Amino acid sequence: MRDNSFKQIAAYLIAAGVLVSCTHQPRDNRSSSLSLEQQQIETLLSGLTLEQKAGQLSLVAIGGEPSDEDIDLIKRGMVGSIIKANGAANNRYLQELAVEHSSSGIPILFQEDVIHGYKTISPIPLAEAASWDLEAIRLSAEVAAREATAAGIHLTYAPMVDVTRDPRWGRVLETSGEDLYLASVIAAARVEGFQNGSTNSADNLLTCTKHFAGYGAALAGRDYNIQDFSERELREVHLPPFQAAIDAGTPCIMGAYTAYNAVPATANIELMQTILRGEMGFQGLVMTDWETIPNLVKTGVAKDDYDAIEQAMAAGYHIDMASKRYATLLPQLVREGRISEQQLDDAVRQVLRLKQQAGLLDDPYRYFDTQREQQKLLSASNLATVKDVAAKSMVLLKNHQKLLPLDGTLSDIAVIGPLAKAQEDLLGWWSMAGDPDDVVSIYQGLQNALPNTRFHYAPGVTLEGFEKHGAALIPQAVEKVKQADMVIMVLGEERWMSGEGGSTASLHLPGLQEQLLQAIAETNKPIVTVIVAGRPYVLTDIAKHSDALLMAWMPGTTGGDAVAEVHTGAYNPSGKLPITFPIHQGQVPLFYSYRSTSHVFDAGADNNRYTTTFRDVPHEPLYPFGFGLSYSEFSYSDILLSSPTLKRHGSISAQVTVENTSDVPGREVVQLYIRARVSSVTRPVKELKGFILLDLAAGESQVARFEITPQMLEYLGPDLKQRIDNGEYELFIGSSSAELQNSTFSLTD
Ligand code: BGC
Repeated sequence: MRDNSFKQIAAYLIAAGVLVSCTHQPRDNRSSSLSLEQQQIETLLSGLTLEQKAGQLSLVAIGGEPSDEDIDLIKRGMVGSIIKANGAANNRYLQELAVEHSSSGIPILFQEDVIHGYKTISPIPLAEAASWDLEAIRLSAEVAAREATAAGIHLTYAPMVDVTRDPRWGRVLETSGEDLYLASVIAAARVEGFQNGSTNSADNLLTCTKHFAGYGAALAGRDYNIQDFSERELREVHLPPFQAAIDAGTPCIMGAYTAYNAVPATANIELMQTILRGEMGFQGLVMTDWETIPNLVKTGVAKDDYDAIEQAMAAGYHIDMASKRYATLLPQLVREGRISEQQLDDAVRQVLRLKQQAGLLDDPYRYFDTQREQQKLLSASNLATVKDVAAKSMVLLKNHQKLLPLDGTLSDIAVIGPLAKAQEDLLGWWSMAGDPDDVVSIYQGLQNALPNTRFHYAPGVTLEGFEKHGAALIPQAVEKVKQADMVIMVLGEERWMSGEGGSTASLHLPGLQEQLLQAIAETNKPIVTVIVAGRPYVLTDIAKHSDALLMAWMPGTTGGDAVAEVHTGAYNPSGKLPITFPIHQGQVPLFYSYRSTSHVFDAGADNNRYTTTFRDVPHEPLYPFGFGLSYSEFSYSDILLSSPTLKRHGSISAQVTVENTSDVPGREVVQLYIRARVSSVTRPVKELKGFILLDLAAGESQVARFEITPQMLEYLGPDLKQRIDNGEYELFIGSSSAELQNSTFSLTD
């Protein structure tokens, strides 16, 4: 705590009755059983008017200079939390208004979308998921927390744990992909990373896990689009990552824009009360997404804003994001008896508890130290951490004749493509205070890593939205390539093309990029293509015309250096796809864990007409879930089971020996999948149940050993109740969802 603020803080604490709480004599039996923390909250609550209570539930957007109206709102105690105000000095000023000049004196909770970094930007979450490296992901969230808290932010709207199977949905970039198991373990790692292992340190960024639930099912991948998905899908696919985040200690959940069972999440009592609080045991704070209270009127489930508020309160929403409806209309509803004061008080308690968890009730200013902010932002160690996860996120999809890593003797390399020198586009949609000028472009990264190489650059085509412009630039690019030994193409999408509101119907690279590559391929020079994108694109033609193909995603501030490390072999790629890459966009949604059907496609059969496949495109994806190449080669032994029989109260082990048969050290992500031979409902053909990262020296062998427990076999029966059936199971271990050794075991009493 800084000296000059101590007097003010002490005055605040006394005025608010906080300091007395330690010696405070309980007034009734209820308070006598309260913890010190609860007493602190009750003391504050008892000093608030109806209007001030409603103000605590209001999350107001104040970006840039606060207007006179904003200042007035804060002074009237109508602002409980703020979104979009960042920076230690700026937020200190706003906090002073709230603590010293407002009628309630209660500190503001500053909230923000710190999704994958604040100033030092990590790769997009989908990219990080491709690392399958939970520790690297946790450390990346820690960097974001360290920087955001130093810049005066207390809570982030992350992790986003929605599962999606539709790459047209722009928000796929913010997910961990298509699989609920991978999404769940990553959700827990991110909560732990942001919250820094504790809920009471100044580096602790509280998490608000989102969007509860089923937002990722948006129909046709169009953002915000409502889909009538089943209760089974809700429970099997969408809820598990939320449960993982809750178990990891997330104190806040944000509701989805979308609906479940046709009732918008903002009004959905079954979803938010029965399931979230009742079944999943969540006891923390629930907030709306942006203006979803008035959205209830727009979608036609509430007749006016008052009705909307009643419904949102009944569904258990404690904070109203951005709409100011709670702040302005709730007191009247309480006076009219349409909402009880008890309901209002419970919501305020949740907000105060969050402020307490952030430490604000003890020291409202502890996040606003400008010196600390300067030291933490963009520090060398933060940059090193995000470069590490960026390198681990890259997925090598093709490497014909081992074109990569580059031969150190190459003297001339052409770097072609509209994203070769891009900086802003490497940051991704949620780049907060990330400054494009701080970003290492891929061109720059290659130059840094290969100082003795001559580079020949041309953009090849322009990216002007989705228009097919810039054909006149192609010949110039071809000329550059002719002067070089080989070419690195940097293709992909611009930052704004994915992210929120960034859905696309086409999954082909925008503009004339496919045509550009085709023209370059005619030079017959070896081609490495690097893809910068927030979603899986249909890379079928791109792969055909490239000797090597690297998925770099939107790799963040240090992205160019990470791409260069992969090119030179300083980092041997180890990423594996967290989402299927289709061979044709008409295959979408396409995912590895589809349900068994009667008309199974059999690649070896002569006549596959009467199967669940298309007549005009192959059945398989271009690149399956879990796929990714390395410069090393790994060989897998057969699976060794400790027993072919698993008892209901026991466990068995399944192991493989993986050998690095190459002469370069490398990392393999060993994946475990299970399938039940017979179940009471149709089940996925396989489900990811575990994975192990092996770092193998050249020629080294290591054992990957999985413990198999009956809980891994649990599923929802026809009545949607959890069950585990005795019977036969197939077990698969391998390097992707499509390259697997298999074995069988049975479960018995
Ligand atoms: C998004 C949320 C985000 C919020 C605040 C909404 O439109 O759906 O994910 O946290 O805005 O920016």
